[in-house]
Amino acid sequence: MNILILGSGGREHAIAAKVAQSPQCTHLYVAPGNAGTSRCATNVALKLNDFAAIGRFVLDNDIRMVVVGPEQPLVDGIADFFAADAALRDIMVIGPSASGARLEGSKDFAKGFMQRHHIPTADYRTFTRDTLEEGKAFLATLKAPYVLKADGLAAGKGVLIINDLEEARRELTAMLADAKFGDASSSVVIEEYLSGIELSVFVLTDGEHHLILPTAKDYKRIGEGDTGLNTGGMGSISPVPFANDAFMAKVEQRIVVPTIEGLRNENMPYKGFIFLGLMAVESADGVKEPYVIEYNVRMGDPETESVFPRIQNDVVEMFKAVWEGRLDQCSLTADPRSAVCVMLTAEGYPESYRKGDVISGLDKADSSTQCVFHAGTKLDDAQHIVTNGGRVLCVTSLADTMPEALAASLQRAETISWAGRYYRHDIGQDLMKYLK
Ligand code: AMP
Ligand code: GLY
Repeated sequence: MNILILGSGGREHAIAAKVAQSPQCTHLYVAPGNAGTSRCATNVALKLNDFAAIGRFVLDNDIRMVVVGPEQPLVDGIADFFAADAALRDIMVIGPSASGARLEGSKDFAKGFMQRHHIPTADYRTFTRDTLEEGKAFLATLKAPYVLKADGLAAGKGVLIINDLEEARRELTAMLADAKFGDASSSVVIEEYLSGIELSVFVLTDGEHHLILPTAKDYKRIGEGDTGLNTGGMGSISPVPFANDAFMAKVEQRIVVPTIEGLRNENMPYKGFIFLGLMAVESADGVKEPYVIEYNVRMGDPETESVFPRIQNDVVEMFKAVWEGRLDQCSLTADPRSAVCVMLTAEGYPESYRKGDVISGLDKADSSTQCVFHAGTKLDDAQHIVTNGGRVLCVTSLADTMPEALAASLQRAETISWAGRYYRHDIGQDLMKYLK
C-alpha cells in the first residue's frame, strides 16, 4: 500500500526509515520531509494545516495510511477531518481525534483527566486572569521551586520552573494578564515540583489494547552535564537502564491501563501513540515510583531516533492492527541492544543560528548498527545537503552496551561537519551508574 507520513524532523525520518522497510509499503511519501527522508521516500510540499490539500493528495495517490508525526495537526483535528469525509473515512490515520489530542493540547484538561482516573501526577491548581490573585496566594502555600505551565501548546516553551516566589508571581502575572504565551497562557497550571529522573514511555493503542514500546530518555539542555538553555533535544538513549520490569509493571498498571480506560470512558477516540513524560520519584525506601509529568499524543523527538531503530516488528503491520482494533494480536520485538542518539546542531542554537551551510561527511551508508537521521536539512539548488534548522542531524548507534553505542555515535558525529556544528559528548552518562 501507499503510505504518507506527515512531518519534517528526525522523528519523521526515523519513522520513515522503518516504514520503508516493511514489505507492505509500496510507495512512501513524507510531507514536507527533509533531505534525509528524500532518500527513502518522496517528499511532498504539503502544509500540515491544509487538511483539504492533504486529503486530495491522499486520494490522488491512492494512499491507504497516514502517520501523523507532530501534535499540531492532531490537536487541530486531522483525524476528525478524515473521519467526517466519505471518501477519506477508510484511510488508516495513525493519530488520535482532536478530543484525544486534548491530552497534549491542554495541560489543565490533562491534569483533570489524571485526577479523574487516579493516575499519579503532581498536585495542581489552574488559574485564569480572573483568579490571578488567588494564584499568587496559592504560590505562597507551595515550596520552591515553583512550576508554572501555560495551558495550551506553546512550542515547548510554556513551562517555567522558578526558585524565587516573587519572580514566580511576576511570571504568573505575565502569563495571565499580559498573555506572555498568547492564548496558550490564558489559563495557567501551577503544580507541585517533583524531584527525580525523567524518562519517556511510548504506548501504541487502538483505543482498547496497547503495546508498550521501548523506553527512552532525552537530553534537553544545550550544554554538557545537562546545563544551559533548553533545546528541542540534544540526544536520547533507549532503553532506560533503571526502567526494569518492576518499574514498568507499575507504569502499566497505574498509568497506561487507566489512561486507555479513561479515554474510552470519556469517549475520546484514540488510535495512535501516547507519549508519557514520566518522573521516577524515589520513595523513602529508595524505590522508584512513576508520576506523569505530561502526556503527548505523538512520538518524542529525539526519542524516536533511539526507539524506532530498536523495534524489529513490521511497523506497518502494527499500524494496521491499530486501525483495525486488533493490537492484542501483536507483540513487540525489541532489539536488546542499547541505542544512543547524538544530535548535531547549528552554531548558536537554541538562540539565533544560520541556515544553508553545506554539510560534509554524509557519504557513508547507514548500517544495521548505525543510522544518520536528518532533522533540519534540505537539498539546495545544486543538490548539496545544507543545514536548514537548529537541530540538523542525529547519529544513532546500536551496541551491546550504552557506553559502546555512545562511543560509536560520537566517532561518527566527528566525521560529519559544517561551519560551527556542535554536539554533546555526554548523552546517557548520567545513567551509566544504573548499568549492571
Ligand atoms: P512539560 O512541557 O510539561 O514536559 O515540562 C517541561 C519540563 O519541565 C519537563 O520535561 C520537566 O523537566 C519539567 N517539569 C514539568 N513539570 C514538572 C514538575 N511538576 N516537577 C518537576 N519538573 C517538572
Ligand atoms: N523529546 C520531548 C518531546 O518530543 O516533546
